[in-house]
Amino acid sequence: MKKFIALAVICSAIIIAANFSACNNSSEPKAAVGKDSLKTVLERGEYLANNVAACMDCHSKRDLEKYSGPVIPGTEGGGGMVFDQKFGLPGVLHGKNITPDNETGIGTWTDDELLRAITQGISKNGDTLFPLMPYPNFNRMAKEDLLSIIAYIRTLKPIRNKVPPRQLMMPIAAAYPGPALQPSIDGNVRPPESDKVKYGEYLVTMADCGTCHTPYTEQGMDMTRMFAGGYPFDAGTYKVISSNITPDTATGIGRWDEAQFLNKFIPFREEKNYNFKPGKDNTIMPLSLLAGMKDDDLKAIYAYMRTVKPISNKVEKYPK
Ligand code: HEC
Ligand code: HEC
Repeated sequence: MKKFIALAVICSAIIIAANFSACNNSSEPKAAVGKDSLKTVLERGEYLANNVAACMDCHSKRDLEKYSGPVIPGTEGGGGMVFDQKFGLPGVLHGKNITPDNETGIGTWTDDELLRAITQGISKNGDTLFPLMPYPNFNRMAKEDLLSIIAYIRTLKPIRNKVPPRQLMMPIAAAYPGPALQPSIDGNVRPPESDKVKYGEYLVTMADCGTCHTPYTEQGMDMTRMFAGGYPFDAGTYKVISSNITPDTATGIGRWDEAQFLNKFIPFREEKNYNFKPGKDNTIMPLSLLAGMKDDDLKAIYAYMRTVKPISNKVEKYPK
């Protein structure tokens, strides 16, 4: 059943995209990024790439034995994370090198080439990227946010690391969610932060929470049960099942108040809380990165998650 994650990833992106498209018609003015200041742009890019869209989660080497698999310092963006059948994928994929190394990274890519890869899933050489790279979600991001991420990854330390090619057991054409992608991202609007629910939805799309937190059937992601949890992960040294994060009071997080929700993340701002080997009680959720989200952004995510459909689904995170 796990081989259906490919389909599932696509479906999740489609459903999130469908929910989210309402934002594109918003008449609210664009939130300013501080267009005059390169420093502001780079700070925004650093924040999104590390703590929200979590590019560094997949594009760096991670220590999967430590709690929540923190990034190994010095490997940021250099590629090397391997995703294989254990993660339910139809083949072996590698997080690519997205540091500005000219030969093995994105040093020679133009901004347009990067935008095309990040939002359309087409690499510089024309190859189609597998949608484990969440480009269907990034296809909904505001251009100013995408450009700030690009500006930031160009400042990463160049790492010389030739990442091996992927090995897929299915034709890439069957995985490509082309029709679901908007041909142009120019009209995407970042909702104002004052609209907590809409901004929270924007962040949840970027952070791709739905892909891990939705159950799967033989046909792929169960779109009628978004965020109901129940997806099993086998990280080799431990197994964990994703939680029900819908507002169902008995089996989801319906009884969690905002402070409890923030407390799922905030402790992992401190290294001591993830820099240890917990054995089997580990999690695949990239907490050391997501914990860096601003309190207000976590509150917006909480506000949005209160509005999704409550679904009854009892999940035991660590089954015997
Ligand atoms: C869930 C894991 C994941 C996340 C999160 C992720 N990527 Fe990727 N990315 C991948 C994988 C895997 C590939 C390679 C796909 C393939 O080989 O088909 C890839 C490919 C790419 C490529 C194409 C590189 C090339 O040489 O073709 C770029 C550029 C890229 N990602 C940038 C980003 C940026 C920027 C972000 C954050 C906004 C990001 N990625 C977030 C997994 C991820
Ligand atoms: C890579 C997969 C992955 C991603 C991405 C992910 N999670 Fe999780 N999440 C899990 C797993 C697995 C668990 C169960 C283990 C644990 O508690 O960490 C979990 C647990 C949780 C819990 C605790 C629920 C409980 O009942 O204890 C909350 C809340 C949560 N996630 C919210 C989120 C939100 C919000 C996002 C997006 C910002 C997100 N997650 C992204 C995999 C993921």
